[in-house]
Amino acid sequence: MELKRFRNYQELSEFVAGEIADSIKNKPSLVLCLASGDTPKLTVELLVNKINEEKIDRSKITFIGLDEWVGLPPTNSGSCHYFFKNNLIGPLQLMTSQYFLFDALADDLRNECLKMDKFINEKNGIDIMVVGIGMNGHIGFNEPGSSFDNLSHIIDLDEITRSVGQKYFNEKVELSQGITIGFKHLLNAKKVFLMANGSKKAEVIKKTVQGPVTEYFPASIMQQHENGFVLVDDDAASLLSNPD
Ligand code: F6R
Repeated sequence: MELKRFRNYQELSEFVAGEIADSIKNKPSLVLCLASGDTPKLTVELLVNKINEEKIDRSKITFIGLDEWVGLPPTNSGSCHYFFKNNLIGPLQLMTSQYFLFDALADDLRNECLKMDKFINEKNGIDIMVVGIGMNGHIGFNEPGSSFDNLSHIIDLDEITRSVGQKYFNEKVELSQGITIGFKHLLNAKKVFLMANGSKKAEVIKKTVQGPVTEYFPASIMQQHENGFVLVDDDAASLLSNPD
């Protein structure tokens, strides 16, 4: 794992968007998995602009959504589905065969997990995974206590995730379960970028980078990834000892 520090959110996002764009140029059939949420918003915007402006071939890329709130329709503006449809899949005009997002309304959610695992395997794994970090150290919906061996799975959401998650919604919603790609896929991904910005993430970044590796603090798994990068702005790095 490597830590990289940026002056601010803009520079952090420009770096990640640039890395993804360059990777697509080198490998047009890139398999990209992204988290939604606030952190990667600017990255996604910059990436889409870059692909469009530089006319980068997007016809062979594959996109995978990291997770979803169980029970939410894709029309809910707080869903991951909604975010990706409107900000990435739509603007890049990806074909349906080019992406997979969990259907959080599926009758058989277990089968939805199997479909995701099969999709990832058929694509020979994820090339680049871009994740955020929750206030409890979660990645995706791999909540504290999640096994590092998990494939895609359904999980009861932690209290912190349920309350912090309200920020994505215009009105109060009942958030009880999530469906998520598990850590086995993260460990197998060829490259992982964990992004964090703002002082509210300083404590969890300190634990991620300088704390013990434990399933009780999920993001500590980054220390085990040989090609894992923890990318932070100055505010998120503010509690690190010897941050440089
Ligand atoms: C969202 C996801 C979550 C978020 C995390 C941080 O798809 O996977 O794990 O990355 O909760 O959220 P933000 O970026 O809103 O602080």
